Amino acid sequence: MKDQSFFAVCPSGLEEVLTVELRAAGGEAVRVQHGGVAFTGTMRAAYAANLHSRIASRILWQVGRRGYTHEQHLYDATQEVRWQDLMSPQQTLRVDVTASRSPLRSLEFAMLRVKDGIVDRLRDLTGERPSIARTDPDVRVFAFLDATTVTLYVDLSGEPLFKRGWRADKGEAPLKENLAAGLLALADWRPPMPLLDPFCGSGTIVIEAASIASRRAPGLNRRFAFERLKGFDSHAWRKLKDTARAAVDESAEALLVGSDISTRVVEQAVANAGLAGLQAWLDDGRLRFEAIDARNAIAPAEHGMIISNPPYGEQSAPKSATVVAMMANVGDRLKQAFSGWEAWFLTSDRSLPSQMRLRERRKTVLFNGPLECRFFRFELVAGGYRPRSSAAALPDLPTGRRRTNDSRP
Ligand SMILES: C[S@@+](CC[C@H](N)C(=O)[O-])C[C@H]1O[C@@H](n2cnc3c(N)ncnc32)[C@H](O)[C@@H]1O
Repeated sequence: MKDQSFFAVCPSGLEEVLTVELRAAGGEAVRVQHGGVAFTGTMRAAYAANLHSRIASRILWQVGRRGYTHEQHLYDATQEVRWQDLMSPQQTLRVDVTASRSPLRSLEFAMLRVKDGIVDRLRDLTGERPSIARTDPDVRVFAFLDATTVTLYVDLSGEPLFKRGWRADKGEAPLKENLAAGLLALADWRPPMPLLDPFCGSGTIVIEAASIASRRAPGLNRRFAFERLKGFDSHAWRKLKDTARAAVDESAEALLVGSDISTRVVEQAVANAGLAGLQAWLDDGRLRFEAIDARNAIAPAEHGMIISNPPYGEQSAPKSATVVAMMANVGDRLKQAFSGWEAWFLTSDRSLPSQMRLRERRKTVLFNGPLECRFFRFELVAGGYRPRSSAAALPDLPTGRRRTNDSRP
């Protein structure tokens, strides 16, 4: 197979950890860019990235690129692509345009020029024109405009890759599955390291960890947009899936615990884990969910890792205490009962370390959707506990918002 250019979109802040996955999938010339990672490789590498990546949101295939100053140049850019090799006119099409610092006034008009270019080109070549479908198109094209260049991408993923197919109820502010996978990767959590999420909500972090421990490719049971493209190599795809299926290890050693103050939320997390195919893990206790207040959290093992996103700012908190006072008590509890553990918290509240009276060893800026967050790492050393004398500091207000129109699709 000939080498092609691709772009893997991911939540901002996870680009570096995504490069590891892309190299493992066979990606070459892997380069971090804002909001994603560019790479080259065979189509097979792009199939593998779709199948195995836990961190990417989607994989795009770059099919065209040229300079532009005017809408007509967008039309011209589409004429340089062999659309007839990608799709038939009987298939439906959708075009989306994303721009950053583009001099063009109307993105709607830009989108129409790209769409017209593709449709005209196919009609000229085949005598027929594809129809447009907003929902469930056979082929989806993204045009990305920066100040001077238009890049045309064909979507290879379809449904975003973070949709693992198990989420029944959205619960309270759940993390996207690829952000949860990114937290595990940034923390360098690896099985069989015991893992606790004391604010587990719908269970995203521990469910993702169980999937990693069992070596299940996240895309094993879903379909992808590349399966509908002309020239789809079903043989190569079947081989990739067979290898991924053979790699699944249902008996992997693990101790994964999620707890939450809300019994209803815990019940939902258990149901989600069942839907994620983890019933056996629940049955034998390798994956556990418990209704416990994090202020009384119990260490499930002598050493391990806490990875969690506690309630903060814009999210609702239990009525019994403010989040600030609660996190102060959680800090005390961690120092008391988790010595030797490492704790990682994702929060938009920059003052979380001072609230918990813990000094962060590292912090990484990440975006949870539009919300700018910090992922703090704390080491919980033995003997570090002193009873609290004064009230905890007040929190900072949530920090700046991400500009939503300056990242790739
Ligand atoms: C931001 S959500 C976590 C979402 C989760 N990461 C997910 O993907 O679904 C925070 C969770 O903390 C829980 N919570 C609030 N106060 C708590 C406490 N004192 N102890 C334990 N859990 C608490 C809430 O019920 C909520 O489910």
